[in-house]
Amino acid sequence: MNTASTQPTITLALSKGRIFDETLPLLKAAGIEVLDDPETTRKLILATNQPHVRVLLVRATDVPTYVALGGADIGVTGKDTLIESGSDGLYQPLDLKIAKCRMSVAVREGFDYQAAVKQGARLTVATKFVQIARDFFAGKGVHVDIIKLYGSMELAPLTGLADAIVDVVSTGATLKANHLVEVEFIMDISSRLVVNQAALKLKHDLLRPILIAFENAVR
Ligand code: ATP
Ligand code: PRP
Repeated sequence: MNTASTQPTITLALSKGRIFDETLPLLKAAGIEVLDDPETTRKLILATNQPHVRVLLVRATDVPTYVALGGADIGVTGKDTLIESGSDGLYQPLDLKIAKCRMSVAVREGFDYQAAVKQGARLTVATKFVQIARDFFAGKGVHVDIIKLYGSMELAPLTGLADAIVDVVSTGATLKANHLVEVEFIMDISSRLVVNQAALKLKHDLLRPILIAFENAVR
């Protein structure tokens, strides 16, 4: 009888780039090594040295969807992405403290943001983070028209598309290179481990050692 096919598997959803790279040491701490390099392989399902653990390569913004709907059991995703996608159906046991950055408001150098906000004028804000931007400006009582973009937000104030952007900032180099300045801090961002709620119960014995190893590695 072939028992391999009935063996439960843990599927981990990761995005290529910084999340994958910064999750690798945590996986290593759990004794898991990914056998392919996501930057060179065309495969989207990567095997690991643990026969019952595999990695799915998905877009960063798709990680919550895969985990919430059971396409993956666990995943790693930014707090920004979690807020934007809503976290229904997801258990969030751990702040992994990786991919750290902050969410900020930035404007063109020389734009008088304080005056624009004080006068109560409507502000046009371009962002990929619509929910975060809406909540932040609503909290300040500032009326905003939001323009949804999918990247290169820095261009919006430079081209007259928007007065301000809401984007993640880490070193500040991107803002500086584009003559933009940070005018408001919204929140600190880091990446979270998210777990499918059904998997947490049904695959508890397989998941528990991974969660414990991640937790110890973060500490
Ligand atoms: P998608 O490809 O789906 O548009 P993305 O481009 O935001 O997503 P990444 O650039 O890999 O995907 O970012 C993943 C996460 O890393 C973000 O959700 C955010 O939490 C964090 N992040 C983004 N930019 C930085 C940065 N410059 N420094 C540190 N962390 C960052
Ligand atoms: C992110 C973000 C900013 C930049 C900020 O882009 O959209 O442009 O990082 O980082 P900094 O403050 O260190 O310059 P990223 O590098 O992820 O490129 P992407 O938007 O194309 O994913």
